[in-house]
Amino acid sequence: MTNWQLGEPLRIETERFYLRTFTPEDVNETYLGWWNDADIQRGFGHQPCNWTLDDALKHVKSFDNFSQFHLGIFVKENDHLIGYYSFITNPDDNSSESSVCIGEKEWQNKGVISEVGPHMLNYRFNAMGHYLIVGKIVGDNPVIKKLYKKFGFKLVITKPHKDLQQDGQPVEISYYTLTCEEWRRRQKDK
Ligand SMILES: CC(C)(COP(=O)(O)OP(=O)(O)OC[C@H]1O[C@@H](n2cnc3c(N)ncnc32)[C@H](O)[C@@H]1OP(=O)(O)O)[C@@H](O)C(=O)NCCC(=O)NCCS
Repeated sequence: MTNWQLGEPLRIETERFYLRTFTPEDVNETYLGWWNDADIQRGFGHQPCNWTLDDALKHVKSFDNFSQFHLGIFVKENDHLIGYYSFITNPDDNSSESSVCIGEKEWQNKGVISEVGPHMLNYRFNAMGHYLIVGKIVGDNPVIKKLYKKFGFKLVITKPHKDLQQDGQPVEISYYTLTCEEWRRRQKDK
């Protein structure tokens, strides 16, 4: 499927999009804006980050392509950057955890993650050898919940987050998981 080696940049194509390892050159005001946007950060259970371009650059440089991956999502037609797909792996147990964002709001609810998600799950399970993928939902995020269900993730536990609050109330965090066997079984059944 791929001859990708640990430490190398990644590139994955879908029908309408391509995802590739984010570079410092990709950091601009648009990308920065996603980190400082209240609606987008609410989806992660956070307040706006109040980052500068330098903070965004440091964030991008913190990914190493060994255990931490940060991919930009680009529209094939015009190379427009519309979001990112990040994941962090734990080599001890081959598990990984991801975080996704469609920062360009005109691209939200246009089926981007519905399209990109299965390609990335295939890549992570089959090319990268991940065994277990963990998904977290902080607070109420019905769209991500729907996506997890669509991809076959199972809810393991919901519990209050130890630090986070939203509107003065403790925020709940839900943990979902998807195993490699379950993913392959679902692909076979399709
Ligand atoms: C949440 C997010 C990643 C979803 O990605 P997306 O590409 O917009 O999602 P899709 O368009 O593939 O939609 C998935 C499903 O949710 C539905 N949906 C998407 N946005 C919706 C909205 N605003 N209201 C109602 N339904 C919505 C879609 O209709 C689709 O349903 P279907 O499977 O029945 O067709 C994206 O909106 C986003 O980045 N939001 C802000 C940041 C965030 O919350 N990140 C996740 C943190 S865990």
